[in-house]
Amino acid sequence: MPVVAVIGAQWGDEGKGRIVDVLADRARLVIRYGGGNNAGHTVINQYGTFKIHLVPSGIFDTSTVNIIGSGVVIDPGVLLKEIADLHESGINTDKLFISDRAQVIMPYHVLQDQLDEMLRGDQKIGTTGRGIGPAYADKMSRIGIRVGDLLQEDVLLKRLQFILENKNRLLTSLYKTQELSLHEIYLQYLNYGRQLANYVADTHPIIHRALEKDVPILLEGAQGALLDIDHGTYPYVTSSAPGAAGACQGAGIGPTQMHSVIGVYKAYSTRVGEGPFPTELEGDAADVLRQIGKPWAEVGTTTGRLRRVGWFDAVLARYTAQINGVDTVAITKLDVLDTMPSIQVCTGYRMHDTELDYPPGNPTTLSQVEPIYEEFPGWMQPTSDIRYFEHLPKEAQAYVARLCELIGVRIGMVSVGPEREQIIEVNPVL
Ligand code: GDP
Ligand code: IMO
Ligand code: MG
Repeated sequence: MPVVAVIGAQWGDEGKGRIVDVLADRARLVIRYGGGNNAGHTVINQYGTFKIHLVPSGIFDTSTVNIIGSGVVIDPGVLLKEIADLHESGINTDKLFISDRAQVIMPYHVLQDQLDEMLRGDQKIGTTGRGIGPAYADKMSRIGIRVGDLLQEDVLLKRLQFILENKNRLLTSLYKTQELSLHEIYLQYLNYGRQLANYVADTHPIIHRALEKDVPILLEGAQGALLDIDHGTYPYVTSSAPGAAGACQGAGIGPTQMHSVIGVYKAYSTRVGEGPFPTELEGDAADVLRQIGKPWAEVGTTTGRLRRVGWFDAVLARYTAQINGVDTVAITKLDVLDTMPSIQVCTGYRMHDTELDYPPGNPTTLSQVEPIYEEFPGWMQPTSDIRYFEHLPKEAQAYVARLCELIGVRIGMVSVGPEREQIIEVNPVL
């Protein structure tokens, strides 16, 4: 049962897309299982540089079937543009399927997301403003529209009539904005449905035939485990379950069928948006990590916001490994540390007179802990051309080994540059 989930194990942007791109040709199926176009996955390979938001990162392998799973929230306009851009770069999407059970992001979701953020004032979350939270809230309230609904004129009209009546009441009375036009949204989304129709399928039989045949399946995560709605730094989280449990739920695969969970960790930490970040850095050290001017600079793929940066936090890293059953670690962006004379890793938290080796659940408390650091000598030499772990400078080997020891999980891969080939495979992962 080679079902392998690739999950973000920090606050997102760990490099999940590039890891899936490396592994895709060994899989027969890649399933994106959650989130929406809040995600931005950068993939650099022989076909070019791609920033993808909804299409799975396995799309560059022509023999792999790619599925946008039932747990995803889809903005159809964004997806259509993404598909068109891929075509323009010569990428074939004939083997792309969209679950008819996936939810649709509607114009009122985007509006609500942006207005809610304004209303929150200094309590804002720093969302991507893409309508993610309201779309998931409506799904749970059972007033969502699913991709399959876009293909049925009568169903769409009936559901939209009822939903929009409620939404318009909310928009005019609470948010003090103008009503949205039923007619316009109906025609626009019907049109989206027509354009996407060839991709829409009941993906359950495709996935379960693959499971029966025992072929390798990759589950592609979006966001990161610390943004998880239940286990993340609530309320500074996204509105889905980006981890291994969410992978099962969003793809429609039982937990007993999952074979392995790869936790993707950056060799340091980044975060976009608000919320606690115990090891956050400012000033010169932050500038080195941010790599401004480089193609892989710490700037948000989706919103262009500057990412907050800091040292690797092993307390949080161990926590996300534990709550997700991570059994293999992929460390990315090791090369970013190449010029650092010394590197710090947070191994515990000090709070008043006590030491903690797990993160407190309260975000205010988490923002007040004092990190306890272990210091490592830097290696001060380039690593981007290295392809074998034993060829890495001994300080870099020791650093990666210690991260994995602190996380409590074996190493699988180390990436030393953003391109497909810039990877060191230490233990087989698929
Ligand atoms: P994702 O959302 O988890 O797929 O990650 P993003 O694509 O948003 O962010 C990761 C960034 O780091 C992208 O700009 C990648 O091109 C880049 N990247 C990934 N792995 C490496 C690496 O090993 N070294 C360097 N320098 N950049 C990397
Ligand atoms: P990938 O898949 C980094 C963050 C937002 C914000 C919070 C809630 O590229 O790793 P939302 O729009 O989801 O309601 O915003 O979550 N966030 C991400 N940060 N990478 C992502 O995705 C993210 N998706 C959401 O910045 O703090
Ligand atoms: Mg990203």
